[in-house]
Amino acid sequence: MNTIIEKTDKDNIDKEVILKAADILRNGGLVAFPTETVYGLGGNALDAKASEKIYAAKGRPSDNPLIVHISRVEDLYELSPDVSPKALKLAKAFWPGPLTMILPKLPCVPDSITGGLPSVAIRMPSHPIALELIRESGIYVAAPSANLSGRPSPTTAEHVANDLAGRIDMIIDGGPANVGLESTIVDLTEDTPTILRPGFITLEDIKKVLGSAEMDKALMSGIKENAVPKAPGMKYRHYAPKGDLTIVLGDDENVSRKINELVAQKEGSGYKVAVMAKAENVCRYSCKVIKNLGDSDAEYAAHTLYSYLREFDDMGIEYIYSEGFDEDKLGQALMNRLMKAAAQQVIKV
Ligand code: TXA
Ligand code: MG
Repeated sequence: MNTIIEKTDKDNIDKEVILKAADILRNGGLVAFPTETVYGLGGNALDAKASEKIYAAKGRPSDNPLIVHISRVEDLYELSPDVSPKALKLAKAFWPGPLTMILPKLPCVPDSITGGLPSVAIRMPSHPIALELIRESGIYVAAPSANLSGRPSPTTAEHVANDLAGRIDMIIDGGPANVGLESTIVDLTEDTPTILRPGFITLEDIKKVLGSAEMDKALMSGIKENAVPKAPGMKYRHYAPKGDLTIVLGDDENVSRKINELVAQKEGSGYKVAVMAKAENVCRYSCKVIKNLGDSDAEYAAHTLYSYLREFDDMGIEYIYSEGFDEDKLGQALMNRLMKAAAQQVIKV
């Protein structure tokens, strides 16, 4: 399959590009497009054949459900029989934006996109190209992250092309995604709203609007062996670089000493090694490849993490050592993804 790649500026959208992409979606094809979190791989959410194509293009297990993207809050009522006051409050506070809500599903939502679950994940993205595309297509757009299953989510059109060129109909290149980490997922099907995947919208943000909310126990650090995450996708070892990633936690001085020691050992044995460190600490390290994670607020780190992991793969890096971040605000989402990429491999010093 020949994949059309079209560029357009999010602040000056080329209508022709949107019309072409909307046409492909309406006809059951697949289009990758930018969102404010990561690039998504879109297909018609109510067309079971289109969702089959999404799973096939990504090589994604079919029990891992997709997020349905909408362009108007009213669309919630077309997908769920039970749009609670809590859901409306969250939509008012955070949509369009990087928040996904899990609600009971109506029968029109095919089981093939919910992995057989009685609930559906719904999000209204804020990226102008995403919103315009959904609106113009006139359909609801199922869109997982536009990567091959098991690879880091794509934050640029180039990442998408590397994974999916030849497997999908079109890629809209609208520049890099802003946040860089996938949306926050909140489950509203139980009494207490529960975050199943941390993201840019934090637990505190949600508590401010709803009063109470909690984190899925399976996501907390020190994960209990038998706690199964409620978002099926969170059980897979996602975002995994080919190299062996270890996170070193402690005070800056001890962390840099430990990492330098490990780097010297591995480089001494002829391995290709990389370090990821906060901007203020970069000068502490002696390693051939050092990536800057920016300030401790984790914004820049979130924006660049997946790119770095992909670069390390391309460079054939065999060992990666990373500093950690405080688990507050965006730091929580960042540490969640970093820990998954490291398969929970942590050294405390
Ligand atoms: O930021 C994002 O959310 C991006 C952009 C493209 O919008 N999309 C994204 O989709 O990250 P994906 O498919 O990579 O992740 C969807 C996550 C998976 O972990 C899946 O298991 C969970 O959402 N999910 C979907 N439907 C669910 C449901 N009914 N109940 C629980 N978890 C669900
Ligand atoms: Mg994904």
